[in-house]
Amino acid sequence: MQESIKSKISGVASFLPDRVVTNYDLEKIMDTTHDWIVQRTGIVERRWVEGTKVTTSDLAYEASLRALADAKIDKSAVDMILLATLSPDHEFPGTACFLQAKLGLSEIPAIDIRQQCSGFIYALSIGDLFIKSGRYKNILVVGSELQSRGLDKSTEGRDVTVLFGDGAGAVVLSRATEGDHSNILSTHIHADGQFAKELWVPAPGLALGDDARITEGHMKEKLHYPRMNGKAVYVHAVKRMIEGLHECCDHNQLNMNDVDLFLFHQANLRIVEGIVDRLKLPPEKVFNTIERFANTTAATLPIGMDYAIKENRLKRGMLVALSTFGSGFTWGSALLRY
Ligand code: UT7
Repeated sequence: MQESIKSKISGVASFLPDRVVTNYDLEKIMDTTHDWIVQRTGIVERRWVEGTKVTTSDLAYEASLRALADAKIDKSAVDMILLATLSPDHEFPGTACFLQAKLGLSEIPAIDIRQQCSGFIYALSIGDLFIKSGRYKNILVVGSELQSRGLDKSTEGRDVTVLFGDGAGAVVLSRATEGDHSNILSTHIHADGQFAKELWVPAPGLALGDDARITEGHMKEKLHYPRMNGKAVYVHAVKRMIEGLHECCDHNQLNMNDVDLFLFHQANLRIVEGIVDRLKLPPEKVFNTIERFANTTAATLPIGMDYAIKENRLKRGMLVALSTFGSGFTWGSALLRY
């Protein structure tokens, strides 16, 4: 590891489908209400793709092109693709390979990161180390999710389905040049697999005691839909995202007051409010997107960065703390000078 080499975010972008699905739209297909969703989660609307043709790699492709344009680098300069998703195009190969082909690139490594809501910070962490090692100069780090077609849209699935949206976000991670103020200060990633089944999709899978990845029985039992212990997720999310913030600040011997902008994973506005209350963070330093985009899992943080930039809340030179929590359970944080 060459400690003198640092990575920086040289480009940021996102891509959201045009179709807006409001809570009132959901009221028409399941037994739920706008008021319940807003009170419990803060979500007002989300984006869902139209029809059945668009894929996760399509969303990732659009966000990637925009991030490359923002970084002002040609796609031929990309040394590696890291794609975080829990809604892959297929069981295998990884969606990063489909994205690579769509981008017209070949030979460079294309890796899927399957760490759900923590996927983007895991990917950022891995990319950062590849750059610090001196091996690569430009890495495309993407979070992309197509949740809507994988959700149970009947009343039975309402506790999960109302929470999720589709979308993609991407950053270009580049080797910082001498004199660059902008850099990734640190990343920290964690997991605790004893909670793996508190938020999961059991099928398709080969651990269900059947002779196929997916059977009619699995479908009948709705094993191909996400299952969640919402209360357990909630409690652990607050605890771990707070720990993550302490870990990244302590590691850099910085105080939380030094942070200019906090970007939290957007699972539930109440989770973020709980963290803000406990840490007494100034609300104006916290940027949320959940009201309009809901939880886009691995795409949430890069989408948040992009919108914070677009809305003038994130500017070059600012110190940004990212903190996330998700299925696995997995969690992580990053501190960066944008
Ligand atoms: O990135 C990780 C993603 N997941 C999360 O972050 C989830 C974290 N957890 C949560 O956000 C909350 O647990 C939820 C918002 C999912 C649920 O809130 P809750 O306060 O834990 O509600 P609950 O599950 O205890 O359900 C309360 C009631 C139940 O009805 P009864 O049994 O009291 O009659 C549910 O059936 O609310 C009902 N309910 C709904 N009602 C209307 C559950 N989902 C809905 C819904 N609309 N969508």
